[in-house]
Amino acid sequence: RKVQIIGVPMDLGQDQRGVDLGPGALRYAGLAAKLRRLDLQVDDAGNLPIPVRDALDPSRPERFRNAILQVCETLYRVVARAVMDGYIPLILGGDHSLAIGSVGGASDAASTGLLWIDAHGDFNTPRSSPSGNIHGMPLATLLGEGDPGLVNVGRKGAKLRGEDVVLLGIRDLDDEEKERVRASGICVLTMRDIDQRGMGAVMEEALERLSGHARLHVSLDVDAVDPREAPGVGTPVPGGLSYREAQLVMEMVADSGRLAALDIVEINPILDHRNQTAQLAVALAASLFGQRIL
Ligand code: ARG
Ligand code: MN
Ligand code: MN
Ligand code: MN
Repeated sequence: RKVQIIGVPMDLGQDQRGVDLGPGALRYAGLAAKLRRLDLQVDDAGNLPIPVRDALDPSRPERFRNAILQVCETLYRVVARAVMDGYIPLILGGDHSLAIGSVGGASDAASTGLLWIDAHGDFNTPRSSPSGNIHGMPLATLLGEGDPGLVNVGRKGAKLRGEDVVLLGIRDLDDEEKERVRASGICVLTMRDIDQRGMGAVMEEALERLSGHARLHVSLDVDAVDPREAPGVGTPVPGGLSYREAQLVMEMVADSGRLAALDIVEINPILDHRNQTAQLAVALAASLFGQRIL
C-alpha cells in the first residue's frame, strides 16, 4: 500500500491563529517515519499554496470564502488524482473547511462512506451558523446544503447522501444545527452513546452503517479527543474521547481493510503543549494504517 501526504495549511475557515501550522507539527512529530515502519510507501507531496490570512482584507469576509473555495477546488483535483494513482491520500490541515475538497475528491471516482470524527457536527449553513465560520459548515456542504459555490466544488451537487455518513464523538451542536442534523438522516453516535454502550459496540454500529461502502474516508477533527489529551485545538469541548477510545476507533477501521483516505484537521500548535496533540494524532494515524500492539 502507498500513502500520499498532502499538506493544507489553511486557517481561513475560523478565527484562531495557528491552525495553519498543523502540517508542520504533524511532520515534526514523525508522521512519515512512523508510517514507513508499517511497510507503507509514503510519498510527501508537500503543501498546497494557501493565501496568507494577513494578506486578505478582514473587512471583506467574502475574500476568505473565495480563497477557501479556490483551495478546495485544487485539493479536490489533487486528492482525486492521488486515488487514481493508487494512493491512500493523507490530508494534513489546516481547519476542517478543507474537507469540502478532500472528501469530494476522494469520492470522485468511486462511492465512499464517510466517518466524521468530531466534537462538532460541522453541519451549519451560512444561514444557520452563529459564528459564520466555514469550518462549521463542511459536512452540510458535502451533502449539498448551503453556499452553492462551495457545494459545487470539484463536481456539481452533493458529494454524499446522509446514509453514507456516520458522525462520531459528537457533543456540541448549535441549536439550529441540531435540527438540521436530525433531519439529515445521518447516523449520529454521540458521546452519550459511547458512555452508555462502550466504544467497541458503537464502532460496530458505525461500520455496519457504512457496510455498503468498500471504501471509507476518515475525517479526523482532533477536537473529538478530550482536550486534556488534545489541548492543541481552537474549539475545545470537554468530555471527549479518551486516548484509548480514539485508538480503538482507528484499530477497528484498520481491521475493516476499507480505509481509502484520511484527513487530520484542526491541530493548532500555538495552543498546544510541546506538540503533544500532533504526537497523539500521529499515534492514531499509525493505528489506522495497521499498527498493532501484538
Ligand atoms: N458549531 C460551531 C460553528 O459553527 C463550531 C464549529 C467547529 N468546527 C470545527 N471544525 N472545529 O462555528
Ligand atoms: Mn470540531
Ligand atoms: Mn470539525
Ligand atoms: Mn493550555
